[in-house]
Amino acid sequence: MPLQASGEKRIISEGKKLTDPQKLPEHVAIIMDGNGRWARRRGMDRVRGHRVGAESVREVVRASRELGIHWLTLYAFSEENWKRSKFEIRALMKLLRQFLKSELEEMLQNGIRLQAIGRITKLDAKTREILADTIEKTAKNREMVLTLALSYGGRQEILDAFRSLASQIQEQTLAPEEITEEAISRSLYTSSMPDPDLLIRTSGEYRVSNFLLWQIAYAEMYVTPTLWPDFRKEEFLCAIEDYRKRERRFGATSEQVASKA
Ligand code: IPE
Ligand code: IPE
Ligand code: MG
Repeated sequence: MPLQASGEKRIISEGKKLTDPQKLPEHVAIIMDGNGRWARRRGMDRVRGHRVGAESVREVVRASRELGIHWLTLYAFSEENWKRSKFEIRALMKLLRQFLKSELEEMLQNGIRLQAIGRITKLDAKTREILADTIEKTAKNREMVLTLALSYGGRQEILDAFRSLASQIQEQTLAPEEITEEAISRSLYTSSMPDPDLLIRTSGEYRVSNFLLWQIAYAEMYVTPTLWPDFRKEEFLCAIEDYRKRERRFGATSEQVASKA
């Protein structure tokens, strides 16, 4: 199946929001899981699942932009995914490059800025080059930020932050009491981003698999048995509607939340 959605390009017009922006999550993060199982159930190669999964990515990006969600973060490749076969890794990187190329025009037309978090230097040179090029070309876009987590691990991110803070202390540019929650947040790969409001995981697994460990402290979770290649606009909208019905208390009581509103 080609990555390109029948060559069709869509421009999402300004002000055409599907739902009332009230209580819309500002930041949605997704653990896109289940591509391999989707393929296996059809007697196909795992890579086929990744390829069809790329179509779900396209739909979810479009739907997010239509809704007016400002931040969308997708877990595309974890630090632990390096354990996969060379064949699968190579196929995933190729799919990523194809996706970046095929989506550039639409990202530009719709004001979507691309960024990446993770240990990007571990990716192969060709993939890094296309990634850097897409990031640069979309840098001025302001409507939505699409963040791809690539070679990403939450613990590794926190470890990198510890090292950075420790060296600032060693250089005496930071005092230990200046290590605050904000200072830690600022030292993460996500320094410029708000924490996710909604964390979606497909394929029915109840785990976070080392994704945004610090940042999801108060995220609302939505777990669906749907496998990622089947997770399309309709179910994404269901997840958003589900989120909108929730009461976020952040440790306070329902009454306290109501009196503040
Ligand atoms: C998610 O699907 C994609 C990546 C982790 C890159 P999987 O490949 O993990 O699919 P399952 O979990 O084996 O079904
Ligand atoms: C999480 O899925 C990583 C991505 C979606 C990129 P995995 O399939 O790698 O996670 P586990 O192994 O089920 O925890
Ligand atoms: Mg998986």
